[in-house]
Amino acid sequence: MPNNRTLILRSRPEGMVKVEDFEVVDRPMPTPKDGEILVQNYYASLDPGLRKMLGATDGYWIPTPLGEPMATNTVGKVLESRHPDYKPGDLVTGTAYLQEYTAYAPGPMTWKVDPASRLSLSNSLGILGATGLTAYVGLLEVGRPLKGESVLVSGAAGAVGSAVGQMAKIKGCRVVGLAGGPEKCRRLIEEFGFDGAIDYKGKTREQLTAEIRALCPQGVDVYFENVGGIQLDAALACMNWGGRIPVCGLISEYNQTIDAEPMVNLFSIVGKVLRVEGFLSFTFKDIFPCALREIEEWILSGKLVYREHIADGIEAAPATFITLFTGQNDGKTVVKLADPTQI
Ligand SMILES: NC(=O)c1ccc[n+]([C@@H]2O[C@H](COP(=O)([O-])OP(=O)(O)OC[C@H]3O[C@@H](n4cnc5c(N)ncnc54)[C@H](OP(=O)(O)O)[C@@H]3O)[C@@H](O)[C@H]2O)c1
Repeated sequence: MPNNRTLILRSRPEGMVKVEDFEVVDRPMPTPKDGEILVQNYYASLDPGLRKMLGATDGYWIPTPLGEPMATNTVGKVLESRHPDYKPGDLVTGTAYLQEYTAYAPGPMTWKVDPASRLSLSNSLGILGATGLTAYVGLLEVGRPLKGESVLVSGAAGAVGSAVGQMAKIKGCRVVGLAGGPEKCRRLIEEFGFDGAIDYKGKTREQLTAEIRALCPQGVDVYFENVGGIQLDAALACMNWGGRIPVCGLISEYNQTIDAEPMVNLFSIVGKVLRVEGFLSFTFKDIFPCALREIEEWILSGKLVYREHIADGIEAAPATFITLFTGQNDGKTVVKLADPTQI
């Protein structure tokens, strides 16, 4: 009987998450209960939002208990099923734990992966999974940009942001991104086809406001928010009347222990009649099949490109998780737990 190597939360991080907050331990193989499937996880997703589940209370999911594994999306193979819709051998993506084998009840983020897909299996955690769907529903269902409008994206070189910018281009918008450093800004223009890029590093709110105004001379109609802080405040100053702000995430706050700089442009929400709307992608589950088909078509036709950052082995997960908050990750970040071609 194989061991089940599992990444557990050893201590609650205070401020920036540390490698020592986690530990890899052996756990017994789980046994599926009625309504559950036992899955061998090939890849596990590392998302910034997981940081919100490591605190004692403040999150959007159940806080991870100390000594227990982190919940995350995985893709793998069903080994045993006590659920009528799944059978052994099915490839499946769903919300499991960061471990080699998980028994879980299929939920809103669980679906079968087509074994004949021309894209690699890991993509079902990224562009053809939660990441692509988050970009799609956040931009198209919440932000609802019209052809010719200006779209500003923060975290623009990240997994979600780079997909948002390209989808906005597909819809005929003018797109500007905020990203950290000249290399990521170059990538926004040359690789992802943005019209403009702003390096936010070391800039004040006033400098960011001036740069956004320069690159969006007609104002911003949709600001896709991944970051928060002074980027949000600067964007508020540049929004057009009736603008929309889909709030996908606020990564600049996830490891923050000190009070954020006060916002000075909040009244723009009232004065410009803005619609500021938080969203969680899984609440749009009904449109996932259609959205996934459209995203796959865009990829196969070369309209949508993406980067993947694959860390090898569960031991690499803590250090790789930290790179999401230092900007050293390079695209959708996943951990490889087993090689699907060898099993
Ligand atoms: N609502 C939903 O359903 C949902 C689903 C998935 C993700 N999200 C959210 O979407 C956002 C992006 O996720 P992702 O998967 O695209 O992440 P990602 O690809 O890992 O991108 C993370 C990037 O964020 C930037 N960043 C990190 N710390 C920052 C800080 N303090 N200030 C400014 N930028 C910072 C870094 O890029 P730079 O080098 O450019 O700084 C980093 O590479 C996150 O806020 C996440 O929580 C929401």
